[in-house]
Amino acid sequence: MVSQAPDGPGIGPIHGRKGFREHIDQFQFPADSMEADEAYELLRTALMLDGRETLNLASFVTTWMEPQAEALIHDTLRKNHIDHEEYPAAALVEEGCVHMLGELFNAPDPKAVVGVGTIGSSEAIMLGLLAHKRAWRNRREAAGLPTDRPNVVYGAETHVVWDKFANYFDVEMRKIPMQPDRYVVNADEVEAQVDENTIAVGAVLGTTHIGESDPIEEINAMLVRVKQERGWDIPLHVDGASGGFIAPFAEPDREWDFRLEQVASINVSGHKYGLVYPGVGWLVFRDAAKLPEDLVFSVNYLGGAQPTYTFNFSRGSAMIQAQMYTFLRLGRAGYGSIVANMLANARHLNESLAATGRYEILNPGLAEPVVTFRLTGDPGFDVYHLSARLRENGWIVPAYSLPPNAEAVHLMRVVVRLDLSRQMIDILLRDLDKAYDELAAEKPPTRTASKPDLWTAPEKYAAHAKARTGLVR
Ligand SMILES: Cc1ncc(COP(=O)(O)O)c(C=O)c1O
Repeated sequence: MVSQAPDGPGIGPIHGRKGFREHIDQFQFPADSMEADEAYELLRTALMLDGRETLNLASFVTTWMEPQAEALIHDTLRKNHIDHEEYPAAALVEEGCVHMLGELFNAPDPKAVVGVGTIGSSEAIMLGLLAHKRAWRNRREAAGLPTDRPNVVYGAETHVVWDKFANYFDVEMRKIPMQPDRYVVNADEVEAQVDENTIAVGAVLGTTHIGESDPIEEINAMLVRVKQERGWDIPLHVDGASGGFIAPFAEPDREWDFRLEQVASINVSGHKYGLVYPGVGWLVFRDAAKLPEDLVFSVNYLGGAQPTYTFNFSRGSAMIQAQMYTFLRLGRAGYGSIVANMLANARHLNESLAATGRYEILNPGLAEPVVTFRLTGDPGFDVYHLSARLRENGWIVPAYSLPPNAEAVHLMRVVVRLDLSRQMIDILLRDLDKAYDELAAEKPPTRTASKPDLWTAPEKYAAHAKARTGLVR
């Protein structure tokens, strides 16, 4: 008879120990310790149930960095970034990134910009809008005007974090719906919504759904005119979460940034096309005047006076250091060559999809390396089938519908990142062709938006993930 190995420190092989034969009860805090290599192996293997990061074409977030960058990340994992007094060099790196971004975004005086490294664009957007809300309130109070009805104006093409801001910070959300055939706002629609209580207008460079851009120049021109005609000095916040690291290299003459008078603040995700692993975003204000002083806290218990404008206190420094690594390592030339490659690959994907006649491309202009397409005609199946079938080959390509009033549009999106080579795109095209042919022959039962693909419906995804990891019975 085969006996189970006794459990104890260092006794027996990992796969003969308790952890590999017993259920892990996620509702009970573990009473005993386990060996380090056992805990590591249990988690490492369970995480293999996830999709592969490089094949996750749903995500903008970076999935490849150089070994030297990973070494730097490892070296700086122990630094709590908020301890500026203890880690002044780490703090200086953050400041350096902010000023370099100010220059990249054409601030009139890069030395005058202020900003902060955040966990991502979501934190950056909330902090930016909060500053504009406070500045609006301060202006109104100084003029003896009411401050009880702030509003923020943006289009439905924005990321969910804009709704979160309005909800969390009690600001009326004036969200302009999409049109059935137009997926960004125009300046007239924005003008119809702004008034003296508008704390800020939002415009997106690289929309989440389609990868397009709002007409930022036109919105700026409208806000300049409104300022002259009505005296409302409404700041424009540009959400450059993904586009902020594309446009400066792909289209340096395109004016979307601090060259435009009303652009008061910009956010960008370092962990998207900034080419750093998850955990870093940036908020940059045109100058210190845009960040009300009464929002900046100063703490002294770590030694020295230390100003902070973040939601979090403790946070890892590693991704901020990794961001400076990419700035130094790549420079404009390096980012330019990577962006050019990603755009060339995205264009190839766009053109190849269009050439089949099976798909309509939703962003032929391709300002970003993001390819969005829907099925032409009725081939007897939908994009949700296609997305599910592609997963059989490991590809994660989301299918979803657009927000109102474009909810009838069901589409798929491929985010082309630096680690998606031309060869891989050709294999994706081949797999897509095969999936299309199979589904057209099978004519599967209809799946509609109310029965979405597992990978695009968060609540189903969560249930699925739990079931697969066996954490819940
Ligand atoms: C346009 C836009 N804004 C904001 C965000 C949120 O960014 P983060 O994930 O860095 O918090 C995203 C994320 O995809 C985005 O596409």
